[in-house]
Amino acid sequence: MKKRSLSGIKSTGTPHLGNYLGMIRPAIDLQDDFDSFYFVAEYHALTSERDPAAMRASTHMIAANFLAFGLDPARAAFFRQSDVPEVTELAWLLSCVTHMGLLERAHGYKAAKDQGKEKEINHGVFSYPVLMAADILIYDSDVVPIGRDQIQHLEMTRDIAVKLNLAFGENLVKLPEALVREEVAVVPGTDGRKMSKSYNNIIEPLAKPKILRKQIMSVVSDSTSLEDPKDPTNDNTFALYKLFATPDELAEMEANYRGGNYGYGHAKQALYEKMNDYFGPYREKYDAIYADEDYLEGVLEAGAIRVRPIVEEVMDRVRYATGLGPRRR
Ligand code: ADP
Ligand code: TRP
Repeated sequence: MKKRSLSGIKSTGTPHLGNYLGMIRPAIDLQDDFDSFYFVAEYHALTSERDPAAMRASTHMIAANFLAFGLDPARAAFFRQSDVPEVTELAWLLSCVTHMGLLERAHGYKAAKDQGKEKEINHGVFSYPVLMAADILIYDSDVVPIGRDQIQHLEMTRDIAVKLNLAFGENLVKLPEALVREEVAVVPGTDGRKMSKSYNNIIEPLAKPKILRKQIMSVVSDSTSLEDPKDPTNDNTFALYKLFATPDELAEMEANYRGGNYGYGHAKQALYEKMNDYFGPYREKYDAIYADEDYLEGVLEAGAIRVRPIVEEVMDRVRYATGLGPRRR
């Protein structure tokens, strides 16, 4: 039996380069060797999203991204989180074994609190890690491909799983492992901080060439003048170029930086060309897939049908073990 890989991405806009390298690519690469389940985390997006049309559009954009990048719906299931409403039930059961103290340590909640926004934080933000644990445990997941920022959530998932197992039975739920690709664990944004929708520093890999170029040209650099030598180890454009260039191309750019008479504008143009070449063919596929709503809905529906038997098996097991209802299977 194949091991199961599972991951989710929030429907809050269109995927950025960090999402692609940190999660989408690794997730798709697992589809041959793992039973692969990937979903759009609408319930998680709802902790901040207030525009239903934007949420629905984002769901289709994300699905079309995965398909354009090579997710094969015949091998991997791709679905909407809300097509498995049982995750909210499992989240409740998990809530009952999760201490407040654990959730108070979560990065997302702590950051909001530190910014003095404690009174504005909704309960969804506070209990976010519990729902995420439910997302993972409800499929008996073995591995979870994610970027580094999600590691804490994975650790919490394991803590919560241990608590449930201690209370209601050894091996009741399976403990998952995080799968993080070190070289792309934190993809930098245009300002050098982690690329994130909430920092306004994203590069959208499948954006039209003009927009892609504009986003790359906005990468922040220091004020070293064109003639002067530059330090590649401390530069955002170089860091991004590294993610796409061959070792020879990288060595050439490094020599250009150190040699002088090579401006950041030149480096950004090289990065743009590299990324445009890489993503151009995917962009064409994306445009065709995104335009075909019936196809997208068909993929999402088939994904939900595919995961259903596992959800029913796990929920029956957990409900019975916790004393809810009779055994149904
Ligand atoms: P964002 O942080 O922009 O809101 P999400 O939270 O929806 O993005 O992240 C979806 C997935 O992409 C997660 O697995 C996350 O770890 C990964 N990811 C997000 N940003 C980056 C990044 N800058 N580098 C690597 N992985 C990332
Ligand atoms: N919290 C994840 C993020 O912000 C999205 C997510 C929700 C997820 N449920 C998940 C990721 C389950 C992996 C597994 O990126």
